[in-house]
Amino acid sequence: MQTIFSGIQPSGTITLGNYIGALKQFVELQDEYNCYFCIVDQHAITVPQDPTQLRKNIRSLAALYLAVGINPEKATLFIQSEVPAHAQAGWMLQCVTYIGELERMTQFKDKSAGKDAVVAGLLTYPPLMVGDILLYSTNLVPVGEDQKQHLELTRDLAERFNKKYNDIFTIPEVRIPKEGARVMSLQDPLKKMSKSDPNQKAFISLLDGPKQIEKKIKSAVTDSEGIVKYDKENKPGISNLLSIYSIFTGKSISDIENEYEGKGYGDFKGDLATVVVEALEPIQKKYYELIDSPELDAILDRGAEKANAVANKMLKKMERAMGLGRKRK
Ligand code: TYM
Repeated sequence: MQTIFSGIQPSGTITLGNYIGALKQFVELQDEYNCYFCIVDQHAITVPQDPTQLRKNIRSLAALYLAVGINPEKATLFIQSEVPAHAQAGWMLQCVTYIGELERMTQFKDKSAGKDAVVAGLLTYPPLMVGDILLYSTNLVPVGEDQKQHLELTRDLAERFNKKYNDIFTIPEVRIPKEGARVMSLQDPLKKMSKSDPNQKAFISLLDGPKQIEKKIKSAVTDSEGIVKYDKENKPGISNLLSIYSIFTGKSISDIENEYEGKGYGDFKGDLATVVVEALEPIQKKYYELIDSPELDAILDRGAEKANAVANKMLKKMERAMGLGRKRK
C-alpha cells in the first residue's frame, strides 16, 4: 500500500476551502492508502497565536478531521508537536535549503508583506513541512493548489539530500483536486478563502450555524450582471459559488447554469446556502459529540505512538546519513 501524508494548520476553525481542497480528498483516499493526517501546530506558531486559543484550535481540528469522516482505524491522526522527529528533521533539512529558495516562496512573500518584524520561522517554515512529508516515505500528498510550490521544494530537497548523503527519501507526488483546488474568498473572489482572513464574512467555517452561512452566502460579492454563468475571468464571484454548489451537489456546472436560467442571484444564493447547511449539519453533529470525549484523546495518543515509531526510524537514517551523533551497534 502506498503512503499519504497531509497536514492542516490549527490556526483557526477550518473553512469550506480546507474541506473542499483537502479534507474531502483525505476521506476519499483513506481506503486505498496508508494515511497519516497531521495537525501541524508547529507551523501555526510562525504567526502570532494566543496560546489558550491555539490549544482549543488543535483539539477542534482533531475533532473535525474525525467528524468529516476520517476513520482512525484506517488512518493515523496525530499532532505534529507530539512527534519531536518533525522539528529535528526540519532542522536538518534547513541545512540543505538555500535562503534564496525560501525567499522565493509566495506564501512567505504574502505573509511577510508590509510587516516590519518577520520571525525567522516564517521563512524557514517550508523545510519543516518537507520533513513532515519525508519522514513517512510518503508517495502522495493531497493538498489545495496553494501548496504546490512547497511540494516542488519538497521534491527538490529530497533529491538533493539523496544525492548528497544517501538515497533514503521517497520522492513524493502532489495531488491537487480537479475541482475546488482553490476556493475563493466570499468578499474578494480574487483571493483564496483563508481561515486567517480578518474579515469573517470572507469565509465559511465548518462550524458556522445555518443563519451565519446564509448571511455570508447572501452577502458574497458577485457582479451586477445577474446571470448565473461560469466565467472565472469576468465573473469570479459567481463562478466560485457555482463551483461550491457543483462540488456539494455533484451536479455539473452547465446543469446548474440551465437550472438557474432566467433566475437571479438571490434564488441561487438561497439554494446554495441550503446545500451548504445540509452538507455541514451531520459534520457539526458528530463534532459536538466528539469534542469533549475521552475517545478523542485516545485516538490522538494512538496516532502519536504510531507516528513516532515510523518517524523515529527515518530520523535515525537521516542522522546516520549526515553523520550526526555516535555510531551504534
Ligand atoms: P493550510 O492549513 O493553510 O491548509 C490546509 C489544506 O487546505 C488547503 N486549502 C485550500 N484548498 C482549496 N481552497 C482554499 N481556499 C484553501 N485554503 C487552504 C491547503 O492547500 C491545504 O491542503 N503548509 C500547509 C500545512 C502543512 C502540510 C504539511 C500540508 C504542513 N505540513 C505536509 C501537506 C503536507 C498549510 O499551511 O495548509
